[in-house]
Amino acid sequence: MCGIFGYVGSEKASPILCRGLKNLEYRGYDSVGIVTGSSQLEIRKDVGRIDDLKTRLSLEELGGNLGIGHTRWATHGRVTAKNSHPHTDCKNKVAIIHNGIIENYLELKTKLVERGHRFSSDTDSEVIAHLIEEWLSKSGPLPGTASSVNGSSFEDACTKAFKQLRGSYAVLAICEGEEKIVAVRKDSPLVVGISEIGTFFASDVAPIMDWTKDVVYLENNDFVVAEKGDIRFYNLDSGEVKRPVSTVEWDLEEAKKGNFEHFMLKEISEQAETIQRACVQDMAVVDRIAGMIRSGYGVFFIACGSSYHACLTGSYLFSKVANLHVNVVLASEFENYEHFLTKKTLVFAVSQSGETADVLEAVRAAKRRGSRIVSITNVMGSSLSREGDELLLMNSGPEICVLSTKTYTSQVVMMALLACALNGDHESCLQKVKDLYLDIYNLTSRSMRDRLKALAGDLSSQDHIYMIGRGLQYTTALEAALKVKEVSYIHTEAFAGGELKHGPLALIEEGTPVFVFVSKENGDRIVSNAQEVKARGGFVIGVSDWDNPVFDRWIKVPDCEDLNPVIQAIPMQVLAYELAVQKNLDPDKPRNLAKSVTVL
Ligand code: AGP
Ligand code: GLU
Repeated sequence: MCGIFGYVGSEKASPILCRGLKNLEYRGYDSVGIVTGSSQLEIRKDVGRIDDLKTRLSLEELGGNLGIGHTRWATHGRVTAKNSHPHTDCKNKVAIIHNGIIENYLELKTKLVERGHRFSSDTDSEVIAHLIEEWLSKSGPLPGTASSVNGSSFEDACTKAFKQLRGSYAVLAICEGEEKIVAVRKDSPLVVGISEIGTFFASDVAPIMDWTKDVVYLENNDFVVAEKGDIRFYNLDSGEVKRPVSTVEWDLEEAKKGNFEHFMLKEISEQAETIQRACVQDMAVVDRIAGMIRSGYGVFFIACGSSYHACLTGSYLFSKVANLHVNVVLASEFENYEHFLTKKTLVFAVSQSGETADVLEAVRAAKRRGSRIVSITNVMGSSLSREGDELLLMNSGPEICVLSTKTYTSQVVMMALLACALNGDHESCLQKVKDLYLDIYNLTSRSMRDRLKALAGDLSSQDHIYMIGRGLQYTTALEAALKVKEVSYIHTEAFAGGELKHGPLALIEEGTPVFVFVSKENGDRIVSNAQEVKARGGFVIGVSDWDNPVFDRWIKVPDCEDLNPVIQAIPMQVLAYELAVQKNLDPDKPRNLAKSVTVL
């Protein structure tokens, strides 16, 4: 989810690019690069933040009134200078920047290398530059590739190259000798800014607003050619199109959050997309890791907080789907198990930030005993991403809010993918995740938010809230309780439903709110537990696909079987958010907490 930015017009491009990229830094920031000019492309890029590189690489000295710039959030290829964008073709005549994931990049890259192309990075994005180069080198329109634009050979080459891509992409491309920027978007955002001093391109509205509030939101497969004083819109499928110009009403800070008041809500709303991105993995790596699980003598999952809950959920999935037992241990408690570790032990370290000190300490202890490590993280280039023998990236994009929301559901999806891979059946998981798209979209809709806002209003004055579930709904209850407590400061605790009568039932009195997570699989028994609560005057709130007389309130959530931990977590995230807002708390920055706990 990195940031891309482009400008062509009457002003010097490099200062504009630097300012636009600075405004985009919340979208991704492990490395930065810009390219300007048209008579001769001049590229400067490296690992680091924009302010640092602006000085170190003298970015604003680059000449020309045309240029493109990129802040990277790595998905393919480690965080290194060579993997930062822009990327060029063999002759350094074409330069591109890309936001998204090219799912068929390996297939394309293999063929390009066979045809003699030389690659300088490990990224998926670089294939785009070489594809454009290849089409540029062919004379005239190719058989069966009717061009959708009657433009120059560069524009034509771009359309043909873009049509070969599968996955998500927003791309800006420039070419030596061409006074223009060519842009395309599919499933990754791209906005065009229109002003008297020129045309702007950006991943979001935010960075454009320093210059103009007149924007065009591109549709999927839209293709734009912008030069000084002229802009043309096409669609790769339908040729020349007209796109309306809108005027943005937000200020800059709001714009970074899109039309959301807080990053927490923005990130909750991204989950329909981010769980899909979590499934975009190199299945050869997934299969290799599944083999390591099978051959491991003792498998440990270690994590903290929400990541720990995702691992617990994973252990239920491995048991249920793959008939496999794995150990799940809080990273801070792992020292009590180290003496079990051998060279045959496999340790999964799960951390969205990749910097959690407890996790890193546990990993280093495991490595000292010769155990193999699989890292699952959201941040390429993080300490954890460099510690493992194998690495799986969550591809969730930056999560700014201290609370883990989209990264939690991405982790759960990756656990489900691993469990299915153990049975050699990725497709069933991938299809189930695809089928969730609409359900998640509905659960993050305005109408659902309004219902949860009303429920939050009834609960915001409570001192204690409890949550119960069984199996996958128990781990969901744990995660939901963490969300509510850390953002609303209401004491919230989760129990396995079967544990109530072993003590926690003593806490129930008239009106005590208890959430009950129900699934087809364990419905009857958890409903009995709800009856126990009701009999003591508890106020029962059902999270379930169907209503039940024992519920005083009901949050309707479709039953998605093994992916219930994903779908049932989302309304609880929204409820937690609404509780914080109604208590006038900042959902993005809860007291006493940090986004990445880098101390033990
Ligand atoms: C979850 O909402 C909290 N922010 C916290 O528990 C978090 O999950 C925990 O600190 C682990 O973070 P990590 O995934 O970056 O390691
Ligand atoms: N996949 C590209 C890379 O890894 C772009 C990353 C992104 O859009 O997040 O460089």
